[in-house]
Formats: sequence, structure tokens, C-alpha cells
Amino acid sequence: MREYIALNDGWRFTEQFSEGMLLPEFDESGMAQVRLPHTVKEVPFHYFDEHCYQFVSGYRKKFMAKEEWRGRRVLLTIDGAAHEAQVYVNGVKAGEHRCGYTAFTMDITKEIVFGAENLIAVRLDSRETLNIPPFGFVVDYLTYGGLTREVWLTVCDSIRIEDVFVYSRLSEEALSTAGTFTADAELIAEVSVKNGKDDMMLRQSIREKGTEAYALLGEQALAGDTTKLCFLLKAAKLWDTEHPVLYEVKTELLQGESILDELVTVVGIRRTEFKADGFYINGKKRKLRGLNRHQSFPYVGYAMPESMQRFDAEILKKELGVNAVRTSHYPQSHHFLNCCDEIGLFVFTELPGWQHIGDAAWKEQAVENVREMVLQYRNHPSIILWGVRINESQDDDEFYKRTNAVAHELDASRQTGGVRAHKKSSLLEDVYTYNDFVHNGERPGCEPKAAVTSDKGRPYLISEYNGHMYPTKAFDEEEYRLEHALRHARVLEAVAKEREIAGSFGWCMFDYNTHKDFGSGDRICYHGVLDMFRNPKLAAAVYACGQKEVPVLELSSSMDIGEHPASSRGDIYIFTNADSVRMYKNGRFIKEYTHAETAFPHISCGPILVDDFIGDALQEEGYSGAKEQALKKVLNAVARYSMAKIPERIFPAILKLLTVYHVKMAQAVDLYTRHVGDWGGSSTAYRFEAVMDGRVVKTLVKSPMTKVVLMAEADHIELSEGNTYDVAAVRIRAVDEHGNVLPFYHEPVQLFVEPPTLELIGPDVITLHGGMGGTYVKTKGRSGAAVLMMKTAQAEAAEIRFQVK
Ligand code: GAL
Repeated sequence: MREYIALNDGWRFTEQFSEGMLLPEFDESGMAQVRLPHTVKEVPFHYFDEHCYQFVSGYRKKFMAKEEWRGRRVLLTIDGAAHEAQVYVNGVKAGEHRCGYTAFTMDITKEIVFGAENLIAVRLDSRETLNIPPFGFVVDYLTYGGLTREVWLTVCDSIRIEDVFVYSRLSEEALSTAGTFTADAELIAEVSVKNGKDDMMLRQSIREKGTEAYALLGEQALAGDTTKLCFLLKAAKLWDTEHPVLYEVKTELLQGESILDELVTVVGIRRTEFKADGFYINGKKRKLRGLNRHQSFPYVGYAMPESMQRFDAEILKKELGVNAVRTSHYPQSHHFLNCCDEIGLFVFTELPGWQHIGDAAWKEQAVENVREMVLQYRNHPSIILWGVRINESQDDDEFYKRTNAVAHELDASRQTGGVRAHKKSSLLEDVYTYNDFVHNGERPGCEPKAAVTSDKGRPYLISEYNGHMYPTKAFDEEEYRLEHALRHARVLEAVAKEREIAGSFGWCMFDYNTHKDFGSGDRICYHGVLDMFRNPKLAAAVYACGQKEVPVLELSSSMDIGEHPASSRGDIYIFTNADSVRMYKNGRFIKEYTHAETAFPHISCGPILVDDFIGDALQEEGYSGAKEQALKKVLNAVARYSMAKIPERIFPAILKLLTVYHVKMAQAVDLYTRHVGDWGGSSTAYRFEAVMDGRVVKTLVKSPMTKVVLMAEADHIELSEGNTYDVAAVRIRAVDEHGNVLPFYHEPVQLFVEPPTLELIGPDVITLHGGMGGTYVKTKGRSGAAVLMMKTAQAEAAEIRFQVK
């Protein structure tokens, strides 16, 4: 049987590569000690020169090859080496690889000395001058170097199972006669065996993940290097984003009675299909509502362990409520994909690249990248589409015929797409995928399918929208942050209305570091609905309202009129997924809002405009009938648009008040001051209550702040050293006494970790941006308790207690 050995600890690293360090006798005492995932350069949060990570570096790792491994094969897998790696074992070249986003495996048996210490040395080139994707012109994201994912050895036999690809076939008939979540499924497996013999058999069995016993699927004789097996699974539980049921398929290689090798493959049984009129899962139409995700983090770029990869998937599903993600613009960590499989998120993944297509050698590498992507990722049930065009590149039929062919040849179960930014382009893929940036605040939310695709008979998917059309910082002014959110809502609404659009992916999940040619000059593209630490901007609420598990209640305004030109607050929106929201002013009930009022009726729980600040307060003062109505109308108009910008449609009501009801100016000013102006006297408190199933599930209070509270939240507080170090993300926010983020609080926060079982990633003094920030704590190979303290000049210190196992 096989054995896996993690090789993530005890690496040596230098930024100054020399040929000598590939040799065993090299004195490595001057090299830094590092653990994987590793970045060649930690970068500042922003304002830095991205050339800082572009160089050739060296890594060395010593390991013991056990005597009992003799006679077996030893394979070395490097899951991510950004971007060109040459690997030496005991001074002999064992392999090389030219893509930072896919894994590679080398058989290093020949080079190994058994029963002794061995050396792996890597020459790693992180320069963006490499003639491989995505390089060659400009790229709107940083491509950080490093051994950014994990490394392991597989000790196995020369006769072994090399690869198992399992997919399912669900006939229309099976789906139509199926129960809601079960159907009879054909399980097809393509099993590659290395050095197999004619007298060998393959046996497959299956169990639902998390259960004990395997049930036999069947056996079949080996048929050459790759054997195709096909078994029927009665009443299979289907994988869906709502019910992400996973199975484990065990494949055994048999010779007579003896089991020579065994491999367990995690699969989901489902049928996904893009049709001309949309996307279908298990025969049911489903609109894809997703976001684009880069795999980058502050400071360490790509180099984050499993927990942080999973955290992003959890945020997408549970905090942002989307059902899909595009891994722009490259294949991402399997830890991220595993989590998407487990929690139920559809994934559109694609080959590395950005706009530029290079020469013949470059294209050759791109085709190879598609091959590796499909081979390495095809068992993930979450993946529903292969992107086989370089993001936003021009047509190149010869090239893209090849990338399509490779994807189809290696995976008959999935369709291809390929992201372009131009309309009516040459369509070699199964799905026309297009970045639709038509919405600029005024133009429609999206183009109709017919205006974009070159073949109306084929499926159509929007792969990006918004992004650079409206970069928005968490510390932008209120109107700007609202418009950002509304643009996301408008596009989602427009896509929801278009029956023939399979769905859309917003640009993008979080802000990211980028090259000088893009972003706001500080090397950040502020395109996220979250900031770089994954703190939500207002636009996040538009997505969050699409789920029902966690109650959402946000208001687009702090209710401070001075934040607005001419003190005119403008439109204010409620973002909620509750059944209704009750609004109170200083304890007085004003109005109960429901989604019947939203201007975004096609999306789940669209934003609702606040159009009443008065309620029946005027009736209590003795006003009634048409007079009260006219007064209320005018006062509400002044509340929204200010005296200077009252819309013309309100003029008749004003005229009536002056001429018919003889309302005096002084009286009007008094009513304004008391019911709208919010000036002087005691503070005005607005309270909003979100009601679900008749119960108040969330409350929001907006009143002038009197206190700064530092709030910090870790994604997990029990950290564990497994195959490598663990990292917890800490999101830090300055809020008022009611928990509202203070969007203009940009103060420093000092960070301390004690005792030394954890260390910080990044600086120990950060500043909040838009009242929000964060840090990361990382395990150091020791167990025990640790405390993270966070201090500002103004607020009480916050602390989080961690436990390292
Ligand atoms: C697209 C591109 C993305 C990102 C985005 C910003 O053109 O595909 O990578 O740059 O624009 O809106």
C-alpha cells in the first residue's frame, strides 16, 4: 500500500540563488528556515514596488528515506511552485515545471539513497519575464512567487494505480423518475494503472462520505493502461449546492487474492449542464449567482494554508450567500476546491492567463496547463465548467481548438467556456462566457444574450461585471458606497430577468494587490465587495441577502446629514433578508417595510428604499386628512432631497399647503426641525428591527456615536498543526456602541501575541481602513494557549484567546 509523507517543515530558503546550493555539500547555515506554504517575499499591505518578489530564489529540504522504502517507488509532488521550478535530488536534476498554479509529480526513486538523509533543492524563478502564462504583457493581479502550496512524498509500488477519474451519468429518465434528491446513477471510472499485468483486476466499492462500510460496486479485468469501469448505483444521493452529498469510491488493484494498491476518490453524483436557456443541475434550472475570487492574501500573497483557503469558500457560501465562484484567473488550491465540494458551491475554473497570448512556446505551455488543470481537478464535483481561453484574450482559433480538444478529451463529462471581453467572437467552446461591463450606473445592468453571443443556440454566461467600472473603498463617502452596492444589485436584477443567461459572476470577492498599471496607485484594486481582510463593504449585503441562514440587516446610511453635499442625505436603502423591517425614530414607530416595495423584484431580497421618516407623528399633533398627507409628503421629500433639491412633482403639494391650508413658513421649519432635521436637542435614534416568521431576528440602531469599541473576530480559535502550520484570520473593526462600523476611523491598532505559540503575519501595528482591518496569526510548531491583544489609543483593548493543538 502507499504511504504519504508531508514535507512542509524544515525547509531552507534564500533570495540569492546560486548553483552551488543545488548540491548536497552546500553550507546552508546562512539560509532562512521556513515552512510551506511559503512566499519568497512578504509585501506591505499597499504602496510597494511589485518587482520585490520577482527574482530567482533557492529552497533546500533534507529528509530521511527509510531503509524499508528500498525496492519501492518514491514520488515527490510539489503542489504549487510559482512560477518555474527546477528540482534537484541529491544534486541530480529530477524534474522541472513551468506553471505556478498546477502541481507536478516526479519519480525520484533513482536519485534517492535509502536509509540515509537526502536533499531536495529547488531553483525557483518568480520573474514575470518568464515566457509562460500569464506573463508577456500586463496582468491585473500580483503573481507572487514561492513554494506556495504543500509538498509531499508518496511511497508506493512500481505496479500501482496512477489515477482514478470518476464521473456520473444520470439519464433524463432517471432524473424524471427520481426522488427529489436521489436517482439511479451510472458511475463511470477511468482508472490508469502503471505497470499493470493482464491477470490483474480492478475492484470498486463506495460509501457515503462520513459513513463506515463500503458497498461493492463491482470488479473488472484490467484493460491496458487505462481501464474504463461502469457501475450502476441505485438511488444515489445527488450532489447539489443545497445538499452537497459526497461519496468515497475505493478503487483496488488486485492480483488473485492480494490487493496491490488502493486509492480513494471523493466524488459527487450529479448532472450539470449548460443549455441554450441556462444552467441545469440534476435536471433543474438554477441561476448562477457568483463572485470572482483571486487566491491572494495581504502580506503573504498566495502562501496560505488549508484553513485560509477553506475560509474563503465558507465566506462565499455562508456570509455572501452566493452559489458559485469563478477561480479567476487560474486553478486554485485544492483545499479551496475541497471545501466547495463539501459545502456546495459551483466552481468555474480556468487556465492561467490574462489578456495576452504569447508565441508558440508560450501557447504550448498554455495547452499543457489545460491538461494539468483538467487532470488534477476533474474529480471535484463543484467544478461545472472549464475555462479554456486566456481571460479576455482575442480570438485565436488554432490555439483554442487545441485547448478545447484537450479539455474534452480528458473530461467527457464537462463543458468548456472561455472568458472574452468582446462580443460575437469565434465560439469554439460549449458556453459563451463574457465579461459584461455595460452597466455604468446608467446603462442597463447587462446586455441581452442576443447582443453578445455569436450563437444564440448555445449557452451564455456572464463571467464578470462591475469591478473597474466603480472601484470602491470601504472608506469612500456614503453615497459612493451605496452606489457600489446598487450597481451590484442592478446587474443581478437584470441578469435575473434575462431567462437565457445562465448566471453571472461579479468582480470581485475582495480587494487585491495589483501591478502599477491597475488599481488606485497604492497597488490595490478596490474592486471587492469585501476588503483585503475579507471585511464586508456595503455591496456585500446585496449578496448576503440571497441566503436565509443568517439574518441580514444593513442600512446604507449612518444617518449623519453632514456626510452629504448640502446636508442632503439622499436615498437610503435597507438591505435585509428578513420578511419585513420595522423602522422607529426615537421609539416612535414609523413604518414597516417589506420586499413588496423593492425596485429589484427579480432577485432574492433586493434593497428597499426608505421613503418615510414621519409615520403618523403628524396625526398625533392634530393634523389629519389631505393636509397631513401633503405635509408628510413634503417633509419626506425634504428629508431625501434637501430644501434645495425638492423634485418638481412635490411642488403642487407645497402650493396646496401654502394656499389652501395656510401653513406658515415658521410652522414648516418647526415641523422640519423636529421630524426631519435631527439637529440640536437630544440625539435622534433610529431603530430598525428585522422580522422573520413574526420574530425580531436582528436590530440596528443608528444614533450619534459616543463610544469607540474595538471588535475582533477570529475565523477559528483552536488551531492545529497538521501537515503544516495553521493560520487564523482575525477581522478587526472599530464600531460604535451599537455595533455600527465607523467608516472614517483610520487609527492605528497595536497587536501583541503572547506567549510565543503563535506569531503574527505582517506588522504589529496596523491602521484600520474605513474602520476595518485585520491580521493573521500563525502557529509555530508548539502547542499551548496564546492571546492576541489589540490596542488603540481610544477604545478598550480587545483580545482573542487561542489554543494550539
Ligand atoms: C477584467 C479582468 C479582471 C479585472 C477586472 C476589473 O477585465 O478580467 O481580471 O481586471 O477587469 O474590473
